[in-house]
Amino acid sequence: MIKSFEDFKERIEDKEIKQIWDQLTGLKHKFFEFFYTELLQYKNPTILEFGVRHGVSTSMFLDICKQNEGKLYSIDINDYSKKFSDLNWKFILAEDKDQKKIENEIPNKFDIIFLDTIHKADHVSEIFYRYYDKLKIGGLFIIDDISWLLYTKGAEHDHFFKEVNNKETFNRLLEIYKNNKTNFNITFNFCYTGAAKVLKISDDKLNEPVKLNSREFSIKNLARKLYIKLRK
Ligand SMILES: C[S@@+](CC[C@H](N)C(=O)[O-])C[C@H]1O[C@@H](n2cnc3c(N)ncnc32)[C@H](O)[C@@H]1O
Repeated sequence: MIKSFEDFKERIEDKEIKQIWDQLTGLKHKFFEFFYTELLQYKNPTILEFGVRHGVSTSMFLDICKQNEGKLYSIDINDYSKKFSDLNWKFILAEDKDQKKIENEIPNKFDIIFLDTIHKADHVSEIFYRYYDKLKIGGLFIIDDISWLLYTKGAEHDHFFKEVNNKETFNRLLEIYKNNKTNFNITFNFCYTGAAKVLKISDDKLNEPVKLNSREFSIKNLARKLYIKLRK
């Protein structure tokens, strides 16, 4: 099967979903180009997805499952069970936090976990810590919406809450990474609303996040900036 973006779109049967992929070119950059080909490396992948709504990410994961004989488990608080009719798909009506209910219906380990429900740092962090153990070594935990650039003042999607939530999520992921550098690698994509890709490299238990202790707003840095300004 040919793996170009155009071929992938051709395979999408649902007209509305296809239209979204066509119209929002940012999706191509932050999803398709950021990890689609990488996901095709997994044979018989097991994928856990949190957040279905339009079915955009679901359509991509199902395409991968179809090519590599995988299985996708999608969770949402709203009933999207009729959105796709696919033997490779299981929909579970549940809140992402409801680990007890979800664990009864999913396998123990996953190659890919994708999070796209509530884009707030505390929530993302909670779900990441809850489900990280379910990821195999060499597996990917993908977190959607970590870029705030398009939500900044005057930018194309100017939005106060989305800007601060996405930026806080990005910073929280750095705080987690700072204390887990031997447990996983992390890569960020800033196209459109952005995404983070965590590659699990050890089976050790995750450490708690630590503060970044940035010097950005320190008196020393303010003095440095003032000095540069005065010299101009
Ligand atoms: C941004 S949309 C997902 C978009 C989807 N990934 C796509 O590509 O079309 C967020 C989804 O998360 C669901 N959701 C919100 N809070 C949730 C929660 N706590 N647990 C499970 N699903 C949740 C919403 O019902 C909605 O369908």
